[in-house]
Amino acid sequence: MSADMVHHPRFISLEGTEGVGKSTLIQGLTQVLQSQGLTVLCTREPGGTPLAEKIRSLLLATDEEVPCVATELLLLFAARAQHCHEVILPALDAGKWVICDRFVDASYAYQCGGRGLDSGLLDRLCADFVPVMPSLTLWLDAPVAMGLQRVRGRNALDRFEQEKQGFFDRVHAVYQARALAEPERIQRINAEEDAAGVLAQASSHLGKRITASQ
Ligand SMILES: Nc1ncnc2c1ncn2[C@@H]1O[C@H](COP(=O)(O)OP(=O)(O)OP(=O)(O)O)[C@@H](O)[C@H]1O
Ligand SMILES: [Mg+2]
Repeated sequence: MSADMVHHPRFISLEGTEGVGKSTLIQGLTQVLQSQGLTVLCTREPGGTPLAEKIRSLLLATDEEVPCVATELLLLFAARAQHCHEVILPALDAGKWVICDRFVDASYAYQCGGRGLDSGLLDRLCADFVPVMPSLTLWLDAPVAMGLQRVRGRNALDRFEQEKQGFFDRVHAVYQARALAEPERIQRINAEEDAAGVLAQASSHLGKRITASQ
C-alpha cells in the first residue's frame, strides 16, 4: 500500500475472521458516536451499494460457478470502487463518520493469506482504485475456532465460511502481521471478552479519534 494514501480521520473499518463480533460491535460504536451528536453511516464490504451488493451475492454464492482467484479479487475491487465512489466518499464529504464492516485489510487477509495471491498485486490495485483509507481499523482478534463455532450455529454457510480451518489460520496470520506493521492505524481488540468488554476496548480507541477530529 502506498504511503501517501489518504487516511480519513472519520473513516473506521472493522476486521477479523468469521463470527468474531464485527456486526455486534458496529451497533455499539454507532450508539457511541450518535450519543455525542455525530452522524454515522454504517456500511459493509463486499457490498454497500445496490450494485456492490449484487457482486457480494455472486462472491458468496455456493451454487454458482466457482470464481477463480483472479476473478474473486477483481469482483471485490469492482464492488469496492463502486462503494467508495457512491457511498464512502460522499458520506465523508458530508461530514459523517463512516464505519465499514471489512475493507482493504480483508482482501490482503483472505485473497493473499487465504488464497495465496501476491500482495504486490493488491498494493497496485489499492494505489489505483482505493481513494481513501480508514485512519482507525479495529481488528477483532479471537481464536479462529471460537468465531467459527459462533457462526456455524446459524444459517447456511456462505462460500467463505465453508473454507477449512487452515484457510482461516492463514487469514488470521495476515491480520496479525498487518497489525504489527501498522500499529497506528490497526488496533487489536481482544474479541474473546464479552460484548460489553469488546465495546469498551473499541470505544477507548474511538474516543481518541473523536477528540483528535474536533
Ligand atoms: N463478545 C462476544 N462474546 C460472545 N458472543 C458474541 C460476542 N460478540 C458477538 N457475539 C455473538 O456471536 C455471533 C457472531 O457475532 P457477529 O455476527 O457480531 O460476528 P461477525 O464478526 O459480524 O460475523 P461475520 O463474520 O459472520 O459477519 C452472534 O451470535 C453474536 O451475538
Ligand atoms: Mg457480520
